[in-house]
Amino acid sequence: APALHVPEWDDVAGWWPRLGPDSEKYTRGVVGISTGSATYPGAAVLSVGGAVAGPTGMIRYAGSAAAQVLQHYPSVIATDRVANAGRVQAWVCGSGLGGGEAAATELRSVLATPLPAVLDADALTLLVDGAMADQLRDRVAPIVITPHDREFARLAGEAPGGDRVGAALKLAAWMRATVLLKGDRTVVATPDGRAFANPTGTPVLATGGTGDVLAGLLGSLLAAGLPPERAALAAAYLHGLAGQEAARQGPVTASEVAAALRAVVPV
Ligand code: APR
Ligand code: MG
Repeated sequence: APALHVPEWDDVAGWWPRLGPDSEKYTRGVVGISTGSATYPGAAVLSVGGAVAGPTGMIRYAGSAAAQVLQHYPSVIATDRVANAGRVQAWVCGSGLGGGEAAATELRSVLATPLPAVLDADALTLLVDGAMADQLRDRVAPIVITPHDREFARLAGEAPGGDRVGAALKLAAWMRATVLLKGDRTVVATPDGRAFANPTGTPVLATGGTGDVLAGLLGSLLAAGLPPERAALAAAYLHGLAGQEAARQGPVTASEVAAALRAVVPV
């Protein structure tokens, strides 16, 4: 079996882009968020809530939950669809996007860009249902997929089982994507055969919407220029830490995890 690396705080802090006198909003990176829908506007708010804790200087939201996103985060630049979003350095696609033709169009627009992308939740279902996995394999820019166990099972054709690291490595190699397999001790596997286990987190995170927050933060780290496995590991590590922090006050909602995230990132 390949070595299983476990990142530490010092690794994450070292990867995190630091601010300085020369910092400028565009050079910090711009992340595009293609999440949410009329049915699930909260997923858009939560994924943007993860991105605002990240290192990027600007967030562009593309989708049909713009009103709700702007109500929570007036600094976001919002538009209706990916094709109209303007310049970004990475995309987050899928959380609460829905499963219809409009959602599939948005996913195709994201995949057609030459940019790194995080695919979560409904984007993963659309990949399977729309037989888009092949398009993924041919893509040059990095992809990070963030399945929980059921999403993993649909993509891989079988549940992760007892060997979660081996299962994630196999899917990463087949899809030519970095795989962040969520759960207790989230696993990150790269297409070239490296594997990592995240040491932070708490079962308190097992509540609806925390995955959306994770995807948003991960996209911000990609847009800031981190390589996919570092972006995935840093996001998982800090998300777990934010869950632990938020849990000190008792049960948490995903919004509270997003708020706690802003207090734990290295800056
Ligand atoms: N211990 C530690 N961390 C956990 C645990 C656990 N027992 N269970 C879950 N987590 C963490 C995961 O690692 C992940 O970061 O909580 C997060 C959950 O993310 P998702 O599974 O994507 O859940 P989310 O999308 O936020 O909400 C559930 O997903 O399948 C849909 O319809 C379902 O609406 C529901 C939604
Ligand atoms: Mg999810």
